[in-house]
Amino acid sequence: MKTESKNNSWVTRKLSKHDKIPYDLLLLADETVEAIDKYIFDSDLYIIEQKDLVIAIYVLYPLNKNEIEIKNIAVNETFQGQGIGKFLLQDAEIKAKEKMYKTLLIGTPDTAFKQLQLYQKAGFESFDIKKDFFIDNYSEPIIENGIQLKDMVMLRKIIK
Ligand code: ACO
Repeated sequence: MKTESKNNSWVTRKLSKHDKIPYDLLLLADETVEAIDKYIFDSDLYIIEQKDLVIAIYVLYPLNKNEIEIKNIAVNETFQGQGIGKFLLQDAEIKAKEKMYKTLLIGTPDTAFKQLQLYQKAGFESFDIKKDFFIDNYSEPIIENGIQLKDMVMLRKIIK
């Protein structure tokens, strides 16, 4: 079944069980396939395609009756900085509302300033820090921009 929403020229499609999971794209936002596999099979995946190429994705993972989390959001490097990330967040909010969830959550390393800005501009507010998340949940240290990732900032948006 196609679930689509339109904004500018972008359209999302829900990935069906028969579609190949685009790990290459998911790996832009998460470190390992092992980490992705912890949430991917219990999630809904929404993609943007251009011709046969999947250029963007987000992953919605239900936490409970009221809360759903964007576990992964990624845009192919060639297409970044064109407003697609912003559009995906709007689309995720629409999809979460349609599913009757009341709160949309998203987490990111406390060092990821670009992502934090993107989420805050979209109306998300930080409410928690998962201390040592990137140490406890990954077998190898993750270094980004010369900084070892440790804590994850959790943000949420009330959407009801
Ligand atoms: N430098 C600083 N801020 C930037 C930049 C940049 N180069 N590019 C985008 N932003 C910020 C700005 O706040 C921008 O808002 P503005 O246009 O009002 O200035 C905002 O992001 C939205 O920009 P978009 O063009 O919509 O973002 P984009 O399409 O590039 O998608 C995303 C953003 C998803 C973070 C993308 O860059 C990406 O895939 N990065 C790699 C994967 C990643 O880090 N994913 C998030 C991990 S956390 C998680 O998945 C839950």
